Amino acid sequence: MKLWLPTSHAFMATPSAFRSVRRACFASSALKWEGGVSMVQGASRGIGLEFVKQLLEKNDKGHVVATCRNPDRATGLVDLKDKFAERLNIVPLDLTIESTIEASAKFIREKYGSLNLLINASGILSIPNVLQPETTLSKVERSSLMLSYEVNAVGPILAIKHMWPLLKAGGGSGTESDVAVVANLSARVGSIGDNHLGGWHSYRSSKAALNQLTKNVSVEFTRRRDPIICILLHPGTVDTDLSKPFQRNVPEGKLFTKEFSVQKLLSIINNAKSHDNSKFFAWDGQEIPWTAHVSISFDAPIRAFANPTQEAVLHGAAASFMLVRQKRKERRKITEKREFMVLLLSKQLLSTNSCTLLMQLAVSGG
Ligand SMILES: NC(=O)c1ccc[n+]([C@@H]2O[C@H](COP(=O)([O-])OP(=O)(O)OC[C@H]3O[C@@H](n4cnc5c(N)ncnc54)[C@H](OP(=O)(O)O)[C@@H]3O)[C@@H](O)[C@H]2O)c1
Repeated sequence: MKLWLPTSHAFMATPSAFRSVRRACFASSALKWEGGVSMVQGASRGIGLEFVKQLLEKNDKGHVVATCRNPDRATGLVDLKDKFAERLNIVPLDLTIESTIEASAKFIREKYGSLNLLINASGILSIPNVLQPETTLSKVERSSLMLSYEVNAVGPILAIKHMWPLLKAGGGSGTESDVAVVANLSARVGSIGDNHLGGWHSYRSSKAALNQLTKNVSVEFTRRRDPIICILLHPGTVDTDLSKPFQRNVPEGKLFTKEFSVQKLLSIINNAKSHDNSKFFAWDGQEIPWTAHVSISFDAPIRAFANPTQEAVLHGAAASFMLVRQKRKERRKITEKREFMVLLLSKQLLSTNSCTLLMQLAVSGG
């Protein structure tokens, strides 16, 4: 069960109708959320629209501010407005125009005075004749990189910046689940540690930038003791306009419906606690790695690891290294630290000094 309790600041600015319903609680299976205000940014279609729908349906006293570039053309939202006229607000916001983000914050401040949940759901991967995911470096264009950064990384962070005072007002004690939540829709391909295939330069790097910016913001919130946590979410491969052009190669059973994915993601948001600040979760609740693994192909010139700079990388990565061995198509993961060091020593890749350091790290649990 999750409680979002009012703060005195929120009480001052919140209309009386909301003062008594700021406590939010919902279980992971059935969402029950008594009151509270959520903002879904990028709500015109796809995953964002489904978030709006489920938040309204599963939280029968909750209010939702759904933002999108063109409210008149967002037919899915207009349909929901017919059904949830009192609790749904549709507000124009284009991530590439900061004044529209500021205007949305002003709307929420004047109407509610606080915000309990911000979901940044917008994102771009391909746009016909404008943006194509690059299969090779030679196809990288400055314009594609800049547009992807602007929409996938810069915009969501500006949204957090402008909603910050409202989220502070919407957070509680800052402990356990008594916090306001920011959930940024990222993608597994934005994880540097998980990048085994390369390609999609603009999308990958813009999501990696979003991840780093989110981490940065979460560190600042912790330092300032703001009752806000930020998490990153990978929704899986979901049947939306974004994934349509790339669904051919999705294995059977791995293409999720919006309903399924959002149900899982809401459960993660619902159960998020203060110690989850800055974590990157996949739809099934598994954490996605941030950092690069130590990855060595034994068919590659591994001598490179003997130079001091890369040894330093090894030292830093000793806490969570994984050695992937590729030999005659056999992939074997060696996670036992001692075995790893002995292996490197036997290949004369490590000096005795650095081996001692690695041993110390291993013994100290690092
Ligand atoms: N679908 C997947 O398989 C998948 C996988 C991994 C991660 N994700 C991530 O999940 C999120 C949602 O994806 P989706 O599948 O729902 O995509 P989608 O169906 O293509 O929807 C994208 C949303 O982003 C909005 N948007 C685009 N540019 C914008 C801008 N400048 N300002 C404000 N909003 C803007 C779109 O609004 P308009 O209608 O105005 O264009 C639309 O509402 C994205 O961040 C995506 O990267 C999706």
